[in-house]
Amino acid sequence: MKRLAVFASGSGSNFEAIAEGCRSGAVDGSVVLCVCDKPGAYVVERAKRYGVECLVFNPKEFGSKREFERMIADKLDSLEVDLVCLAGYMRIIGDELLERYGGRIINIHPALLPAFPGAHGIRDAFEYGVKVYGVTIHYVDATLDGGKIISQVAVPYEGSDIEELEAMIHRAEHKLYVETINKI
Ligand code: GRF
Repeated sequence: MKRLAVFASGSGSNFEAIAEGCRSGAVDGSVVLCVCDKPGAYVVERAKRYGVECLVFNPKEFGSKREFERMIADKLDSLEVDLVCLAGYMRIIGDELLERYGGRIINIHPALLPAFPGAHGIRDAFEYGVKVYGVTIHYVDATLDGGKIISQVAVPYEGSDIEELEAMIHRAEHKLYVETINKI
C-alpha cells in the first residue's frame, strides 16, 4: 500500500481521481497529504471532502524556493510518503525536493511529450492542429516536462471545440493516473 502525496495548484480533478481510486480500492494506496501553493484553490475543498490533510502555503511568505521545499520535504518525511504525484502543481520542482525525493516524484502532462511541453499543452496542440492528442506521466527531474516517460495514452480528436477536447483529455488523465500509480 503506497503512501501518496498529491501536489496541486488549482481545481484538483486529478487529486480527486487519485483520492477516489484509493477510497474505492482501484488504487493500492492512500493519499496522506495534499500540498497546495495557492490558498483558496478548489483542490483544498476536495481534500477536505476526502479527509486528506492539506499543507497550504503561500510561496511569497518564504525567503526562497529551497526554504518552502524544505518545509514540504520535512512534512513528506514525517508522513513517510512513498510517492509524490504532481497534478496541476504550477511550479518547477527545485533542488531541495529533487535531492530528497528524486525518483519518487511523478507528473502528469496533458500532451504527448516531448511534444507541447509547458503550461499550455492542450491549447498549444490544438492551435498546431494535431489530430491525435494525449496524456503523459513521467518522472520529474530538473528539466521542464523532460523526465523519463512512464506511461502515455493517445486521445484522437478531429473536432474544433477546445472545451470538448479538454474534457476528453481530463477524463483520459484521471484514468491514466490511477493505472500508472498501480504500475509503479
Ligand atoms: C491537468 O490537465 C494536468 O495535466 C496539468 O494541469 C491540469 C490540472 O487539472 N498539469 P486538475 O487541477 O487536476 O483538475
